[in-house]
Amino acid sequence: MRIVVVGASSGLGRCIGIGLAKRGSQIALLARRIERLQDAAKDAGPGTIALACDVTSTESCQSAIAEAASQLGGIDALVYTPAIGPLQALVDTDAETWRRVFDTNVIGAALVTTAAIPHLTATNGVAVYLSSVSASLTPPWPGLGSYAVSKAALDKLVEAWRAEHPTIGFTRVVVGDCAGGEGDAMTGFADGWDPELAGHFYPQWTARKYLADSLIEVDELVTVVDAVVRHGSSISIPSVIVAPRTVPSS
Ligand SMILES: NC(=O)c1ccc[n+]([C@@H]2O[C@H](COP(=O)([O-])OP(=O)(O)OC[C@H]3O[C@@H](n4cnc5c(N)ncnc54)[C@H](OP(=O)(O)O)[C@@H]3O)[C@@H](O)[C@H]2O)c1
Repeated sequence: MRIVVVGASSGLGRCIGIGLAKRGSQIALLARRIERLQDAAKDAGPGTIALACDVTSTESCQSAIAEAASQLGGIDALVYTPAIGPLQALVDTDAETWRRVFDTNVIGAALVTTAAIPHLTATNGVAVYLSSVSASLTPPWPGLGSYAVSKAALDKLVEAWRAEHPTIGFTRVVVGDCAGGEGDAMTGFADGWDPELAGHFYPQWTARKYLADSLIEVDELVTVVDAVVRHGSSISIPSVIVAPRTVPSS
């Protein structure tokens, strides 16, 4: 399959891009940090493409998707992974932060999808979006309110695209806590967090049991995404959840 993975320079997106390539697909890796993408393309193997793309720019989304389609010879699937999650109480979250979060987590997903629609329509293709347990399975986590709100909006965005383009398989993948891989493949999600604020909010997440006892293995996430892109054209897979099984304590 010919697949575009957006947000592939780090963490889960990098693991998904490389993992799908290792499972036999032809991959275009997109994000802003091109050197990291070029390293990931080497790890993924021959034929993997690295293309710079800033999802907050319409022009960048249009040109990167056009270039990916041209180099791959078409697009069978799109996997959208970019997200930012500033750690901040809602009372301290200013308009600029709200806009940054929505630009990356929601509007970027819409812009990339808009650019990919003609290609996905031509192939009866599949579009996959990584969401979070904190938007649908748990209440919003204190300190990550803008992130949870944006992921809830992304969930609705996936439904809205499906309503207008029923020939494309739109899937929301609800992801539980996952460290990613090693090095650049490790999640960078919490990189910018203020340690003092993290120390303030973390005990609230554990006290409310929002954090699972274990992390999911990123390879299992890749296996699920691989199944979705392979079967999403022929069967309806509106949503899947990839989270640790909760083992009841005795
Ligand atoms: N890790 C977890 O435990 C977990 C749990 C639930 C859901 N998720 C979801 O999984 C996804 C990946 O998370 P992660 O932990 O792997 O995060 P990460 O390591 O921070 O990766 C984020 C990726 O998004 C890209 N990105 C950010 N802004 C971008 C922009 N303006 N244009 C293009 N790409 C942009 C980054 O690349 P550049 O900076 O190079 O552009 C990077 O490749 C997110 O949607 C997250 O919400 C993660």
